[in-house]
Amino acid sequence: MQIKQILAEALVGEEITVKGWVRTKRVQPNVIFININDGSVIHNIQAVAEPGVIDEDTLKLITTGSCVAVSGTLIESKGSGQRVELQVKTAQVYGTADPEKYPLQPKKHSLEFLREIAHLRPRTNTFSAILRIRHSLAFAIHQYFNDNGFFYLHTPIITGSDAEGAGEMFHVTTLDPKNPPLNEDGSVNYKEDFFGKETNLTVSGQLEGELGAMALSKVYTFGPTFRAENSNTARHLAEFWMIEPEVAFYELEDNMRLAEDFTKYVINYALENCADDLAFLENRLKDEEKTKKAEERSELALVEKLRFVVDNEYVKLTYTEAIQILLSSKRHKEGKFQYPVQWGIDLQSEHERYLVEKHFKKPVILTNYPKDIKAFYMKLDEDGKTVRAMDVLFPGIGEIIGGSQREDNYEKLLQRTKDVGIHEDTIWWYLETRQFGTAPHSGFGIGFERLVMFVTGMTNIRDVIPFPRTPKSAEF
Ligand code: 4AD
Ligand code: MG
Repeated sequence: MQIKQILAEALVGEEITVKGWVRTKRVQPNVIFININDGSVIHNIQAVAEPGVIDEDTLKLITTGSCVAVSGTLIESKGSGQRVELQVKTAQVYGTADPEKYPLQPKKHSLEFLREIAHLRPRTNTFSAILRIRHSLAFAIHQYFNDNGFFYLHTPIITGSDAEGAGEMFHVTTLDPKNPPLNEDGSVNYKEDFFGKETNLTVSGQLEGELGAMALSKVYTFGPTFRAENSNTARHLAEFWMIEPEVAFYELEDNMRLAEDFTKYVINYALENCADDLAFLENRLKDEEKTKKAEERSELALVEKLRFVVDNEYVKLTYTEAIQILLSSKRHKEGKFQYPVQWGIDLQSEHERYLVEKHFKKPVILTNYPKDIKAFYMKLDEDGKTVRAMDVLFPGIGEIIGGSQREDNYEKLLQRTKDVGIHEDTIWWYLETRQFGTAPHSGFGIGFERLVMFVTGMTNIRDVIPFPRTPKSAEF
């Protein structure tokens, strides 16, 4: 029986078997305590054995990290800290964990150290809590879209186009790097490659998502995306998961409403379904923040912060208005922004954080960015200078969502692809949707790990995905 079920049902008097990994063992003259966790829930079950019940040889092998099966009677606990405990009748060791070698001894380990043992860190309270919350958020996402008439569309991972036009892609090829077939001009002849053309790992499922929306009206993708940007920050991964809804007949305002409603729904789902794990992570965060200066500590505890987001309207303003706020800020006047502020710049994380964390202290949706800093597919505003883009910025995270209304006019879109140098033959199928039954439509992409960071309060994106891929790091 899973520990979650045992603790929830507290079936006192029942004979049960628990299988899991030993967290601690305490041997006292007249009783032995073994704390076991099976990952189903943050709590351990305490197994209590009278001396002699477990033979000496077996008892020696029961150490922190070993894997055991323990059977006995569930009784009301005599100690504080748990309602029930397991009165041991038999114990078996599946796998030992030599205390001299097993790295996860019961003491505090740094997150940096745990990253080096990512194969074992799911066995810690912190990571098991994060992984359970990650699961619940994924489940809530599918639930939300299913309840709201969206269809889950599986978009390809290998692609011949660059959706974001940023060129930060991983090449997919079966050609021999030492001896590739060449064209007469010395360039690589990709006609001889596996797909007969140059291909990459996708940076976004959006373009194919749009094809789906032009048939099913409401679709979403939820899959891995890859970016070879060499930004070794606490918010970037080379492999991350993105959720991308795409909706026919939605304009920018509808898209903003969807982004707000969707994020509130999934955060609320975590509040309602992950209370124990959130409480654990909230305490972890409080401990961590004790080491920080008072002004760097969060004003709200984790759960309060999540409630605050769910209960309050997001602030909505245009990029141009945001630039004005930044320009009139004390920080700008005192020259304290590292990157200078002026209309037309791509907002840096320091600017986004100022707006969200200092100025508004709430999630913010910024819209109508200059066209030159946004992707080619965004719908041009009447002024010809800005596009119908929207970024959602969250406290402590910065950009969590990027999206837009899409350019649905064939001529304008074709012109934009030419302006930014996208070859028509890599994207003809995308352009054709604007020739055959085009319609206004909008969508966005939310970085799943950034969402998990926000909900768990973790500050490094490497700590919210089981096995992170970052520059120079693809172990496990
Ligand atoms: O803003 P981005 O680049 O938007 C797109 O890819 C659009 N095609 C989405 C759409 O309209 N369908 O990325 C969307 C989100 C970002 O806001 C961020 O949360 C996340 O994806 N993201 C990353 N997360 C982790 N590591 C990275 N390297 C990320 N790059 C983007
Ligand atoms: Mg973006």
